[in-house]
Amino acid sequence: MRSTAENPTAQNPTAEDPTAGGTVVQEAVAPAPAYAGSALDLRDVRLSYGPVEVVRGVTFSVPAGSTTCVIGPSGSGKSTLLRGINRLHEPSGGDVLLAGTSTRGQHPDRLRRRIGMVFQHFNLFPDHTALENVALAPRTVAGVPRAEALRRAHARLAEVGLAERTDHRPRDLSGGQQQRVAIARALAMDPEVMLFDEVTSALDPELVKGVLNLMATLGRQGMTMVVVTHEMGFARRVADQVVFMDEGRVVEAGPPAQLFEQPRSERLRRFLAEVL
Ligand SMILES: Nc1ncnc2c1ncn2[C@@H]1O[C@H](COP(=O)(O)OP(=O)(O)O)[C@@H](O)[C@H]1O
Ligand SMILES: [Mg+2]
Repeated sequence: MRSTAENPTAQNPTAEDPTAGGTVVQEAVAPAPAYAGSALDLRDVRLSYGPVEVVRGVTFSVPAGSTTCVIGPSGSGKSTLLRGINRLHEPSGGDVLLAGTSTRGQHPDRLRRRIGMVFQHFNLFPDHTALENVALAPRTVAGVPRAEALRRAHARLAEVGLAERTDHRPRDLSGGQQQRVAIARALAMDPEVMLFDEVTSALDPELVKGVLNLMATLGRQGMTMVVVTHEMGFARRVADQVVFMDEGRVVEAGPPAQLFEQPRSERLRRFLAEVL
């Protein structure tokens, strides 16, 4: 039997308050790999549901190796925008440049290997172990041979602090651990960009911080990330750029200090007054 020593983050309630000040609790992650993130440029991106345009001309740039947090009220188009970036939803206009090149002509399957996405609900296969969940996409989507896919899956799970949990099934993992498996699964495709859509919203409060710290670590290791989040403390601390969206448009974008300390628009001031 393998050791089932508990994950320290699930045991230490003092380490879990996502609003607690600047101290970053280091996860038991493996030595830093250097991710080779690529720049992402959104140019007048538009997305519609039927006749209703819900993302109405979004333009911003995410330099390689930087983190952009997207904030804004519910219904402002944040999820739809992320789904447009990796073409789970086909944009009705505009362009997304990856590493400086238009992705418009690129097949969505190919694009999704380059742009990983993590959702609020982890959608792991319940009958697969953590290792199998992580190894699956490289094997079936990218055609990586089984042994290499398993080797990669081990490495990715170690990077997210789950080296001891590779043989666990989702039901035997906490929500935070399941979400970290989902992050490892996205990383296993060696993406150039990672998109996160409110990945801590469904977690018990005491499990939020471990996932946020993992994301902060990925950012420091050079991953290019777009993070839709309600965690204003995370956005303030980790983002290189914060984008505030309302009604399908970017209302303000800039460094976190500027948006949080000196919001220019009444809409952002009102939003911050509600969430902070
Ligand atoms: N599948 C859908 N069909 C029709 N309208 C949708 C669908 N999904 C989202 N919407 C609408 O699109 C708008 C943007 O939604 P969404 O991107 O989920 O916003 P956010 O993630 O910021 O909460 C909302 O008005 C929402 O009601
Ligand atoms: Mg959403």
